[in-house]
Amino acid sequence: MQTLTVSLNERSYPIFIGESLLTQIACFAPYLKAKQILIVSNVTVAPLYLAQVKTTLTAQGYLVETHLLPDGEQYKDLAHVEGVFTALLEHRFNRDCALIALGGGVVGDMTGFAAACYQRGVSFLQIPTTLLAQVDSSVGGKTGVNHPLGKNMIGAFKQPVAVLADTSVLDTLNDREYAAGLAEVIKYGLIRDLPFLSWLEDNIQGLVARDKVLLAEAIARSCQNKADVVAADELEANDLRALLNLGHTFGHAIETAMGYGVWLHGEAVATGMLMAADLSWRLGWLAEADVARIKKLLLAANLPVTPPDSMTPEQFMSLMAVDKKVLAGKLRLVLMKSLGHAVVTADFPLAALEQTLAAGTQLGRSYD
Ligand code: NAD
Ligand code: GLY
Repeated sequence: MQTLTVSLNERSYPIFIGESLLTQIACFAPYLKAKQILIVSNVTVAPLYLAQVKTTLTAQGYLVETHLLPDGEQYKDLAHVEGVFTALLEHRFNRDCALIALGGGVVGDMTGFAAACYQRGVSFLQIPTTLLAQVDSSVGGKTGVNHPLGKNMIGAFKQPVAVLADTSVLDTLNDREYAAGLAEVIKYGLIRDLPFLSWLEDNIQGLVARDKVLLAEAIARSCQNKADVVAADELEANDLRALLNLGHTFGHAIETAMGYGVWLHGEAVATGMLMAADLSWRLGWLAEADVARIKKLLLAANLPVTPPDSMTPEQFMSLMAVDKKVLAGKLRLVLMKSLGHAVVTADFPLAALEQTLAAGTQLGRSYD
């Protein structure tokens, strides 16, 4: 087992990465002061892993209740968080209870948000069960839900007390979801870790084949990157943490336009990252060969790299205008000054962005 730390003074917490963590009480007990625990999961993950976690905790005398969400991004909304509050109240849970998120990013974001709000805040522990959640969403304390008018628009910062990334649970993840997780792994290489990007290029076939040793290395290097960024800019008060949103402004527009759940978050981010690379190339910051490298790696990870046919540049512009990085009405994007070095900038001609959006399904053709 590897242990990393997210260093946030009194809110610092460990990230445990390894096999079969769900049955190791040492990963839970020091962090769960409460005796009343609500495990929030969903109808897909619960039949696979809930019993293990419940057994581990009840054997130690915890009072464990469970609440299952329906499965899907389309249910990541306020109505279903209210269901979590109802469960907590029905079980008469007090402020000294704790929530455990057992699932992917959707369960994690919703459970964390419920923990941030219930009786003005109770503690919560993350057990991410998708690759995406293990390398990104479970770390850093961004929680929340979608609104019909915009992705992740309602939320709160709420750090977990610990993160348990059990690599054994990834065996049951389907290939599409697994690839979506690789998109966020690749993101760290592109924004701030060029050696990691090269390592990913060298090892992408093994990662796609789910080699356990490579996977543990990729998760640890991703989590270390995320932990460093979060420690330096927990609340996204400066532009450091915003770098983690490479591809997300384009990607969130795709997710919202297509209907939540139609494109997976990681798929939309992958295409968004190539759109950001295309714009960076138009600005003279990336060479054609750089964009070709990014495209090759995303395709090798079985990720989509062209936006949906049905989306017009106008639709992109309208949805991107509600992005959380918009300041004083000005759209800001995460772009790459060079490979491994991203910046947040509003310093691009609108015409260049329009060209990227107009490229549509032709995106990236010229780099082949
Ligand atoms: P998800 O939570 O929808 O999980 C993907 C699918 O895999 C679901 O059907 C789920 O039931 C299933 N699943 C989960 N674990 C499984 C397992 N071990 N075996 C089999 N099936 C399993 O999607 P996701 O990709 O994990 O997360 C995407 C969400 O995360 C989005 O809502 C996105 O906005 C959010 N996100 C948040 C942050 C953050 O910092 N908070 C960062 C990135 C993404
Ligand atoms: N996934 C973006 C962040 O955590 O800031």
